[in-house]
Amino acid sequence: MAADRSRKTGEGVSARGTGQQEKEEPRAVAIVSGKGGSGKTLIAVQMGFELAEYSRSSRVILMDADIGTAGMSFYLGYRYVHNTRTGLSDVILDRNKTYAPLLQDISVPSGNLRYLPVGDYRRINREYRARNPDLAKPPPIIPVLREAIRELREEADFLIVDCRGGIDDESLGVCSAVDDIIMIVEQDPTSFQASRYLVDTLAEVDLVHKLRGYIINKVYANPEPVRRNGTVDFASQCLAAVPVDLEAMRAFLLGQVPAPSGLFGVHIQDALSRAYPAVIRPPAARILSDSDYDKMNVFDPVASLGGVITAIVLLTVGTGFVVDLVTRQTTPRTQAIVVVAVLAVIGAAAAAIASTRTFIRRGAAAYVGFLRRLFRLGRGAR
Ligand SMILES: Nc1ncnc2c1ncn2[C@@H]1O[C@H](COP(=O)(O)OP(=O)(O)OP(=O)(O)O)[C@@H](O)[C@H]1O
Ligand SMILES: [Mg+2]
Repeated sequence: MAADRSRKTGEGVSARGTGQQEKEEPRAVAIVSGKGGSGKTLIAVQMGFELAEYSRSSRVILMDADIGTAGMSFYLGYRYVHNTRTGLSDVILDRNKTYAPLLQDISVPSGNLRYLPVGDYRRINREYRARNPDLAKPPPIIPVLREAIRELREEADFLIVDCRGGIDDESLGVCSAVDDIIMIVEQDPTSFQASRYLVDTLAEVDLVHKLRGYIINKVYANPEPVRRNGTVDFASQCLAAVPVDLEAMRAFLLGQVPAPSGLFGVHIQDALSRAYPAVIRPPAARILSDSDYDKMNVFDPVASLGGVITAIVLLTVGTGFVVDLVTRQTTPRTQAIVVVAVLAVIGAAAAAIASTRTFIRRGAAAYVGFLRRLFRLGRGAR
């Protein structure tokens, strides 16, 4: 959460100034994805905050290039910037205006972070159309996006540009103006195919060499197949597999930037440290390995059913014990409670282990199969 954002200087900070690594040249980086909703905006904002905080000398600018949707403007407009009505729209309507005065400061504990919003998109339609009724002459959105990137790149060490989902002319315009492209991919086959289409499109317009890498986001199962196939199909390195993180989702919904020390934050730092090792060190916290996701089994129905069976069996056994003890009146009530409590603890411990649940589920299936066969045999004998 925003309040948790302060972090001891020195932890995860830039390698700049240490003299150990060469300084990166200023970079303009486009965050793209083959399909909408993959997490571009959340990742772009997190990257901006982490770059500003951890690379002490960095001047970082976030730019919303999703003109129609303005997702970043809505997100940051909740808490971090006061005015999202001015921005790129002002230059689209008046080409004499410049970009730097439209930048707004975002407060970060240590660093320099500024933001260029989309501005008032409805004003573009209203005022531009009033002046240019000819529908064949669209507003100069692509030239303005490209010009903004060229100008702001001179003002920053890092310019992070949040694009629209999919690859349309506006996103291609952004990709042609930036130095690097980072692609966000989800694990599902639709997202993978859409990402492949995006990479093919970049190749057709001779921009694929700008791909600095891809991030697998919202990971809920072992991402190894996407990592392996992606490295070939996306012609670039996998920068990180970022887990589904309910805390990050909650922060997004509340208009807050996830804590850098949270699950989402450390994995984004990991991605940055791979993309720009001269700027950001790998996080001190542990990063989930691919096989860690096997243990989670968040969406494994077999394991979940095993958990349910375990709970039912333990409840039945526990109840039986209690009834037995109470009706015979041989044991004090406290003893029964202790028995149930012990069983509950053992049950909870067993159910917490996904492999145990899977084992129990498979055992139960085998037992049911055995009973069915027995039943059929019994009927056949009659
Ligand atoms: N690692 C994650 N864990 C959990 N939720 C996530 C994660 N990454 C993104 N989300 C959630 O996914 C949703 C979409 O995120 P976001 O708006 O950043 O995607 P986008 O790619 O910018 O979408 P669009 O294409 O519409 O601009 C948000 O609710 C966000 O909180
Ligand atoms: Mg977005």
